[in-house]
Order: sequence, then structure tokens, then C-alpha cells
Amino acid sequence: MNAVEIKKGIYWVGAIDWSLRSFHGYTTQRGSTYNAYLIIDEKITLVDTVKEAFAPELLARISQIIDPAKIDYLVANHVEMDHSGSIPAIMKVAPNATIIASAPHGVNGLKAHFGDYNYQGVKAGDSLSLGANTLHFVTTPMLHWPDNMVSYCPEQKLLFSNDAFGQHYASSVRFDDEAPLADLLAEAKKYYANIVMPYSAQANGAYKAVLGLDIDIIAPSHGIIWRSNIPDILEKYRSWSSNETDGSAVVVFDSMWHSTETIAKTIAEAFQAAGVPVKFYDLKQSHISDIIDEILTTDYIVVGSPTLNNNMLPPVSAFLTYMKGLAPKKRKALAFGSYGWSGQSIGQVEEQLLACGFTLMADSIRIKYRPTQEQLDNITATIIAAIGQK
Ligand code: FEO
Repeated sequence: MNAVEIKKGIYWVGAIDWSLRSFHGYTTQRGSTYNAYLIIDEKITLVDTVKEAFAPELLARISQIIDPAKIDYLVANHVEMDHSGSIPAIMKVAPNATIIASAPHGVNGLKAHFGDYNYQGVKAGDSLSLGANTLHFVTTPMLHWPDNMVSYCPEQKLLFSNDAFGQHYASSVRFDDEAPLADLLAEAKKYYANIVMPYSAQANGAYKAVLGLDIDIIAPSHGIIWRSNIPDILEKYRSWSSNETDGSAVVVFDSMWHSTETIAKTIAEAFQAAGVPVKFYDLKQSHISDIIDEILTTDYIVVGSPTLNNNMLPPVSAFLTYMKGLAPKKRKALAFGSYGWSGQSIGQVEEQLLACGFTLMADSIRIKYRPTQEQLDNITATIIAAIGQK
């Protein structure tokens, strides 16, 4: 695939990772891209690079436009290696280039990864003249690393947003009006849930900062470039970063001999009976990063595990650990499970739900061995009553 001109004199020169299926544990069924952008001006400028393994692709696309040795500036909006991994390859062919990164975290992070090059640290509000174009730097610390920043080119009304507004979405097209919008927004949601959610306060700040800019194009570092549906993705970021929920419920469980599964089904049916949309996830069949996608907007989180050797089942523990790290806020929760003799798992699940800062919607549901019909009827009544008390 050739370099793609996205604005006059500005080219996408990134790489497409069609085969990526796991991004440090987050399943990426549609692959991803690492977007880098080349600005042809008096100062030749590369904005971000690509994962190290894709450096030959990056260099080949740059070479379609200009000799890479002519690069004057390399703007590194983010230290994480999916964007910085090819800095050594670029600096090998353009050793006199200056690397622009946030100060101090960006510069220090890049030095720690790649050693000494010619760095120039920038702070919020700094700008850099490239000739006809200018880059204004907006630091976005902890969105999602301390070093993060975005770069705005007012002459082209173009925001290089790095991870913000990105999606893990591999495609032979580059723009949002060339791909199904529903797919892009779904991948943007999954990206937000699995990467950005813990930093929603910062994302909300960045969203508000973007509102103040005159923008024709948002060029993220993953996936599709936004040019026709910018209001849609901005509205999603407003909603997600404001912790807006949709009134739905998620039931997540693992089971050994179907008793906890039977309780899970009864709980899900009770939500349905009460008019609450519900999603049902058996951890033997579902990946935690897909469940978190739903957790981003759900109101009720119900988690069940039987007891195995005095503990909850490991997949339930993994889910709870992952969810706690991603820090959804102000959810209503419930623990449940069947047990044979000791039954510690249910209390452990409840403890983790409380550690997430959730409010318990009812007492935990504990069933010895197999639930009777009477017990299931009581569970239904408990759920419906708890929803009624919201
Ligand atoms: Fe896409 Fe935080 O790197």
C-alpha cells in the first residue's frame, strides 16, 4: 500500500498489522495499524513512528515521498513502543534529526528506551514552526502514560491525537468514510474500555480541549483517520469519559458442574423480566477484554464463582483483577455462587467488587450444591427487588 496524502503535503506513512490478535492481553480481532505521518515543509517532520518490526514498511512509505535522510524533526507524541519502536531505524538514516517529546517524561522515557539522541523537550502550549505549518503541543499526561501529548496543526486544522480516538482496526482504507462507521465506533469503544477507561478524567479534559480547536481531521495513531464523522467520535468520548451508563446489566461467571451457571441464568432472566438489558458471559467462552467492552457502559455487574480449593476459580479472579485495574466507577454489583462445603469464593468475589468501589445491590447469593427451584425463585425475587430499589 502506498503512502496516503491526508492533507496537502501531509502523508500517512504508517504500517498495517493485519495479524495482531493480542495487544498485551486485549484481543484485537480486527488487527491494528500504527499510524505515522510525514509533513513535507521547510522542515521535514515525521509525527510518531511504528512498532519496531514494521520499520521497513515505514521507511519504504517515507521513501515514496522523500529521502528519509532529509527528516529534520521526529515528533514523538508517546513513548510506548508501538509508536516509538522505529525511532532507532529513523535515527540511523537521519542522525541529525531532532526528536521532539514532552518534557520531562517524554524525553526521559525515550532516553531510557533508546539512549542518547538529539532531543528537544516541549511543554504544554509550546509550538514549533515547520515553515508553512506549525505544530502546537498539548500535553495529555496519563492519557494513558505520563508522557502523552497530542500535536495540533492549525494551518491544516489537523490534530495528531496519538492513542486518543484510536481503534485497533486494520484496513486497506484510511478514512472513516471508507469503512463501516458502526465497526469503527465499536472498536473505538473497545479501545477506550481496555486502554483509556482508568484515565477518564484526563480523557474528559482532552475532549474539552479538542472542542476548542478548529478541526478538519483527527489523525490518531491506531486505526482509521476521522474526517467525516468527527462529531460522532467526539460525542462518544464525551459520553465514555463522563461515565455515562445505559441501564444494562452484565452477568459474568465460571462454573464447574453447572450450579453456578444455573444461578447465573436465573439472575440474567430476572434482569430481563425487570426490563433491564443484560449480557451473559461464561468465562470459559468469553475473553475478559470483550467483557470489559460491555462494562464500560453497564450499570449492574454481577459476578459468580463456585469454590475450588478454598478459592474462587482462577478465570473469575483474572476478570476481577483486570476490571479493578480499569476502574469503572459507580456501579451496582452482586456476588454469587454455589459451593459444596466451605464456600469462600463468594465472599472473595464480594470483597473484590467492594475493592472496585462498587455498591452492593443485595446480599451475596450463596447456594450449597445444586439450587432448588424454590431457591431460584428467591433469587429472581431478590434481583427484581434490588432493581426496584435503585
Ligand atoms: Fe498505542 Fe499507548 O500506545
